[in-house]
Amino acid sequence: MKNIVLLGAPGAGKGTQAALIREEFHIPHISTGDILRRNIKEGTPLGVTAKKYIDAGELVPDDVVIGLVELRLKEDDCKDGYILDGFPRTIPQAESLDKVARIDVALNIDVPFDVIMERMSGRRVCACGETYHVSTLGDATTCQKCGKELFIRDDDRPETVENRLRVYEKQTAPLIDYYRKQGKLKDVNAVGEIDKIFEDVKKALI
Ligand code: AP5
Ligand code: MG
Repeated sequence: MKNIVLLGAPGAGKGTQAALIREEFHIPHISTGDILRRNIKEGTPLGVTAKKYIDAGELVPDDVVIGLVELRLKEDDCKDGYILDGFPRTIPQAESLDKVARIDVALNIDVPFDVIMERMSGRRVCACGETYHVSTLGDATTCQKCGKELFIRDDDRPETVENRLRVYEKQTAPLIDYYRKQGKLKDVNAVGEIDKIFEDVKKALI
């Protein structure tokens, strides 16, 4: 299988599609956001550092995330492909990645601004990693997989969301051109039903 990078604005649906790719192709889903949030929950030194950036909607410093991804990619389960979700997020991160890995494809999960706002404001998450949206949850307040209570991510507050989108435009959107120039970029129009989008994702990965 391939080594895949998922690009896309906050709330575009990267995590949602990455979970489907993982199930279909049996390759690990490496989300730097999930790793950082786990460290915050466990109160590790990395988590303490990361929290102040994440809560402000800013990026965690490059050297911190580059180090943790490089370590993760050395693990055994990454031998036959992986999905990077939320990394790289800056040009220096992409350049560092190119020194230690061979990326085959960068999927750009492309969604207009108004849809992004809708997706992030309705997101509900579980500590187990599952993600839901209020539009499909009905009256449910617990995780369909593990039964735990769902909650709203701290950085989904409206003030933080605005800054995350600004940071995305300035620091992360240039990666679209970075991978286009390498001939690795595939755009996926990610408006519509999750399963339908996944069909296009699969086509882009063949
Ligand atoms: P991270 O966790 O990566 O957040 P993000 O990029 O802002 O993206 P999100 O997780 O918010 O959105 P998503 O695209 O995964 O969408 P989802 O599938 O949940 O990063 C968080 C923070 O950590 C950063 O701000 C930064 O501080 C730090 N960080 C992380 N990586 C870093 C790095 N490399 N360098 C520096 N700092 C880093 O979907 C959103 C919602 O929409 C859900 O409710 C979902 O159910 C719903 N949805 C999805 N698809 C559809 C659909 N087709 N139709 C209807 N609803 C849908
Ligand atoms: Mg995510």
